[in-house]
Order: sequence, then structure tokens, then C-alpha cells
Amino acid sequence: MIFPRRQIEESFLIMSKRTRVFRVDPKAPEAEAIAIAGRMIRAGGLVAFPTETVYGLGANALDETAVAKIFAAKGRPSSDPLIVHIARFEQLSRVAQAIPAGAVELGRQFWPGPLTLVLQKAPCIPANLTAGLNTVAVRMPDHEVALALLQAADLPIAAPSANQFSRPSPTSAQHVIDDLADRVEVVLDGGNTPIGLESTIVSLVEDEPRVLRPGGISLETLREALPNLRYEPSYLADDAPSAPAPGTMLRHYSPRARVILFSGADAAEVYAAMRAEINSHERVGILASDADAREFAGLDVAIERLGADADEAAHHLFAALRSLDQQGVDCILARAPERRGLGLALWDRLLRASVGSLVEVGTAPSD
Ligand code: TXA
Ligand code: MG
Repeated sequence: MIFPRRQIEESFLIMSKRTRVFRVDPKAPEAEAIAIAGRMIRAGGLVAFPTETVYGLGANALDETAVAKIFAAKGRPSSDPLIVHIARFEQLSRVAQAIPAGAVELGRQFWPGPLTLVLQKAPCIPANLTAGLNTVAVRMPDHEVALALLQAADLPIAAPSANQFSRPSPTSAQHVIDDLADRVEVVLDGGNTPIGLESTIVSLVEDEPRVLRPGGISLETLREALPNLRYEPSYLADDAPSAPAPGTMLRHYSPRARVILFSGADAAEVYAAMRAEINSHERVGILASDADAREFAGLDVAIERLGADADEAAHHLFAALRSLDQQGVDCILARAPERRGLGLALWDRLLRASVGSLVEVGTAPSD
């Protein structure tokens, strides 16, 4: 339905009467907006802000009441702990303790950047932030808006992705507003986030370092610094009998439509299987690289192009899932990416979005 302009503006105002949106320069954010946002964090409010990965929904990490507001705003289960963001190295020893030398080394090498380290938590971190665990996830984001906000607030900031629980993570301020308008006091709009997928999470509290979630820094890069880094993907369904370890819940990045992931070594066979699936659904959306998109030209499907390579696909994936939902498709078909570089994180997000609907075409790849 098309509304006259005046009506759109009014409905927007009603929708977001509690939310102030400030457009900021992503490279050199305006001091006034940052000061207002920093004061809001210090006052116990919620501020959504861009990072290099996705938008975060931030609150004072040392304030239990403020942290509780994050869970309420997102509809996030209290069993799923948050990441603490810091702007300076000195803040690490404030939020974590018994920090191994390896953690400092990793931080020096990869921070600011899309790497989250799980360490033993310091006593000042409230129990609700870590879902009762004695560990805490920490990272230093590589984005001028996030760093300026952290400096202005002069506090560590707890921030999950700023989406409604189980919706695709937000890569633009509009996604945040679509999910959380009225539940967040301030949104800093710094444009689209550069990477588009969340940080890589590495646990350093076990005998050997272990990847809990693949993300913005590839395993290949991390293994140059940590040759014994382990990664054993494990996914638990919603109805699994035991409580899932943080980050292993299968349903996580779900658009409203059903997602089916097609994997196989022979591209032609994979396309054929995808095309054969189209008629079984009312309205189909396709996630495709620029090269793959032509395989579906002329068919009655909604195509979201993910670009030329894994980096571009990472940048576009969550926006594409949201867009296909808006176009009202009931099923989304995607070809599984190669599991290397950022492709591994893409694979993980697509598999979670598909809630296990993986079709192996022909002989499974041997990796
Ligand atoms: O890139 C990112 O990491 C973004 C931006 C905003 O920084 N944040 C983000 O947060 O993706 P969130 O809450 O959507 O995902 C955090 C993940 C969750 O899967 C949670 O289970 C895991 O981190 N996590 C947090 N604390 C943990 C802990 N102590 N042990 C194990 N996993 C933890
Ligand atoms: Mg999230």
C-alpha cells in the first residue's frame, strides 16, 4: 500500500518516539552525537552503534540493570551471554582476569578487529552479562564510531548484535530500526558495516584454543599465530535435551522464509537440483553470487546477488536475507560456499539460517 508522504512521516514518528537516530561520519564521527550517546550509556540506556562486523546494541557492561535491558529489548534468552567491547588494552584487565600471555599476543596482533576472546571473567562483570558463566567474551572493534563511543562513555560496553533475537544480524541502521525502534534510546547511523558478518570467537579458557564461532577473521589467518587452534563445528537443535553451549544453538540467523542450502562439488548438478526445487514452492528467492545468478535468469524467482567473492557475499548476506523476507518469498535457495577464508563463516550463518535443511548433491566434497 502506498501512503501519502505526510502519513509515512507521522507513522515513523509514532513508531520511534523513544529512539533518537544520529547520522554520523563512519570515519570521523561528529563529537556532539557521540557525546550524547556516551552520556546515554553512562546513564544506563541503550545505544545501537556500528562496528566493522555488524551493528551492536550497547549498554554499560558494569551495570546489571542496563545489561538486563539488552536482553529485554532483543527478546534474547538469558542463557546466551554477551560480548564486552573495549577501546583500550588497559580495559582488558578490568573485565577479565588470569589473562594468558597468548591472549595479550592475539590482542596486540588482531585488535582492533573482528576477533572475540573468551577469558576468565573479572568480578566486576555482572552475572547476567555472562549468563552465569565464569568466563567473559571480549573484543576491541575496528570502527571509529564504536571506538569513539567507548571513549566517550569511558566504560566497557556490552553489546550483542542489534537485531531481534533469531533475526539476521543488522548491517545498517535501518535494520536496527526495523527490529528495535522504540526499544533503544539512541541509534548511531554510520552507514553499512564493512565486513557484514560477526566476529570470530576464540575460547582461551580450555587446554587448547578453540573457535566457538567462525567470523570476520579467518581460521587460516588465526592459525598463523595459533597453530593448535581447534574448530569442531557442533550445532544443537532447539529441542536438544541438554542446554546448548553458548553460540551452538542451531536456529540463530533465521529469516522468516525457509532456507535450503545446496552443497556439491559439481556446480552444474547443484544448479540443476536448485532449479528442480523451485516448482515445489509458491515464491522462491535465490541467494547467488554474480556468476551463479545467470543460472536462474528468466525464471520466476527473486534473485539477491551476493557479489563476486566471499568478502562481498559476507557484506551482503544479512541484508539479502532481510530483503527476500520483505519480498514475501516462502523459500530461499542458496549454494553452499567453499569453507575457507570468510567462506567458512558464510557457511556457518547459512547453515544456521537453514536450520539443518542441507541438500548434498552428488558426491559430498571431501573437506
Ligand atoms: O561481531 C560481533 O561479535 C558482534 C558485534 C556487535 O561486536 N556481536 C555479536 O554478539 O555478534 P552476539 O551476542 O550476537 O553473539 C555473541 C556470541 C553468542 O553466540 C554468545 O553465545 C557468545 O558470543 N558468547 C558470549 N560470551 C561467551 C562466553 N563467555 N563463552 C562462550 N560464548 C560466549
Ligand atoms: Mg547475534
